[in-house]
Amino acid sequence: MLWEPPVGVVVAEVVIVGGESEAGELVAMSIRALIEAKPNAVLGLATGSTPLPVYSALARSLAEEPLDVSQVHGFALDEYVGLPEGHPESYRAVITREVVGPLGLTPENIHVPNGATDTIQTAGADYEQAIAEAGGIDIQILGIGRTGHLGFNEPGSSFASTTRIKTLAEKTRVDNARFFDSPESVPMHCITQGLGTILRARHLVLLAFGEAKAGAIAAAVEGSISASQPGSAIQLHPHVTVLVDEAAASALTNLAYYRYAWANKPAWQAI
Ligand code: PGA
Repeated sequence: MLWEPPVGVVVAEVVIVGGESEAGELVAMSIRALIEAKPNAVLGLATGSTPLPVYSALARSLAEEPLDVSQVHGFALDEYVGLPEGHPESYRAVITREVVGPLGLTPENIHVPNGATDTIQTAGADYEQAIAEAGGIDIQILGIGRTGHLGFNEPGSSFASTTRIKTLAEKTRVDNARFFDSPESVPMHCITQGLGTILRARHLVLLAFGEAKAGAIAAAVEGSISASQPGSAIQLHPHVTVLVDEAAASALTNLAYYRYAWANKPAWQAI
């Protein structure tokens, strides 16, 4: 079995938001409610530009109304292989800078796959074990690449895959070159949670903004389930929330229904 059914509300919904900050607020409030109910909640942390409004909204909320987050655990989705320790664009550094610091999380509770080459053979299994020992991921924040990747699961990734090494698609290296000097400086390899790992999280929250993501979102939400479209793995999960702006939603065909369902969402139902 790829995932265990979550306890509680089970929904799949697409929410078309007015902009990134509205999406950030909605997800931040959901994470806040989770931590209030479960102080040792386990967060699945995405990097890239997309999730930043979530982290900033949550940081603002925690500053305004403090909450004990000392027992919260976090697991990053992925990491580059072979960057020198402390490299500012390693996802360990990004998570520390964008998430751990602003939210005041306990650094020892935050895990990132180990991209060091000398231990890479066992790093995937070690990461899966750490997630299991923490009790599994409660809420997994996800972005999506133009290739359709979730984490760094490029097209062709098995839906049963666990944390392992992948080769980045050329398109992904071009997209991530903005964080490095050139596409060639973006590492060729990464270590990423597998699609099977992601599907085991209890709640998936996928965010996407901008027209460049419209095709990947349409394929993930409404396309055929296929390893060629890794994002389509979300259709196998019982509790998914997709938050998109108008541009990222523009290639969806069932838009009227998503708007109607959101407008008529039961008051008792969280995202
Ligand atoms: P982005 O990356 O949020 O920086 O667009 C998303 C992804 O590659 O998964």
